[in-house]
Amino acid sequence: MSSESQNPLSDAFVASALAQINEASDESALQQLKVNLIGKKSELAQLSKTMGSLGADEKKQLGQSLHEVRTQLGSALDARSALLKQEKLNAKLASETIDVTLQPRGRKLGGVHPVTQIQERMSEFFIRAGFEVANGPEVESEFYNFEALNIPSHHPARAMHDTFYFDSEYLLRTHTSSVQIRAMQQAAKNPENSLPLKIICPGRVYRCDSDQTHSPMFHQLEGLVVTESANFAQLKSLIQSFLSEFFGRKLDVRFRPSYFPFTEPSAEVDLFSEESDRWLEVLGCGMVHPKVLENCGIDPSVYTGYAFGMGIERFAMLYYGVTDLRLFFQNDLRFLNQFA
Ligand code: PHE
Repeated sequence: MSSESQNPLSDAFVASALAQINEASDESALQQLKVNLIGKKSELAQLSKTMGSLGADEKKQLGQSLHEVRTQLGSALDARSALLKQEKLNAKLASETIDVTLQPRGRKLGGVHPVTQIQERMSEFFIRAGFEVANGPEVESEFYNFEALNIPSHHPARAMHDTFYFDSEYLLRTHTSSVQIRAMQQAAKNPENSLPLKIICPGRVYRCDSDQTHSPMFHQLEGLVVTESANFAQLKSLIQSFLSEFFGRKLDVRFRPSYFPFTEPSAEVDLFSEESDRWLEVLGCGMVHPKVLENCGIDPSVYTGYAFGMGIERFAMLYYGVTDLRLFFQNDLRFLNQFA
């Protein structure tokens, strides 16, 4: 570094100054050097103050020397500053470089959930057969879920439904039959235009039950036909065609007499499974109980109806050969990807 004793016009001084300039690592260090080397209090400035006392020749010579040194240092400072700026820019560009040749990360496409796929597959058959899709609330009143369906509060069938109650009136629907009540009430307001009624009601239902084949939330698809001439033979043929179309082959189907408070006569339908060499129950059905029609304001002496109801997961399990119902609700992509 320069010392006060050193002549700022000497080669040694200039060389050392140039070396310092070239070593300055950033703009602020360079700024400081500029002040020290050619600023108002620099040694060069001090020296130029002595010119007044010199003779003309000496003055000229000193002036020239001072000018040369100041110009040399000034341009070295400018050059260093430009270089630092360029280096800074280069570093920034390098750090922000985008490798356009990299493989894109790819967008993962979702798939339709297997239960939804089966629901759609089931609905398609009925829509083609002229059914309309009806929806209703999942939080239901006792009336729509039970009373109107001929299940009064003392009825033993209530125990079978393992109901989630909110209070003495509201509950989570245990089946989508509640939607059928709503549809019939609606139709009864204007029977000439609304009947015959042909609806399916797919949707979530809830029961307080959980194991390998039961889940507290599952899906049902129920259907209802109300006309002036609905009969059991029509119901039977509809269900038979549905089942063979759904599974894509002729099946051994059995209608087994059963009981539901809202249908009379009632039947449960079984499929013969060659795999397990036994009958598997797949749905419940029957002729709508006259009391149920009446509860909805439809005259049972004019109209008759049939209804059926099935669990969608049950069909999904049979269709895909899945043996644990819970797999459908765990959202494990290793499972779900197989259906995408
Ligand atoms: N609602 C019945 C159930 O959930 C199924 C069913 C619907 C049975 C229509 C007969 C007729 O168990």
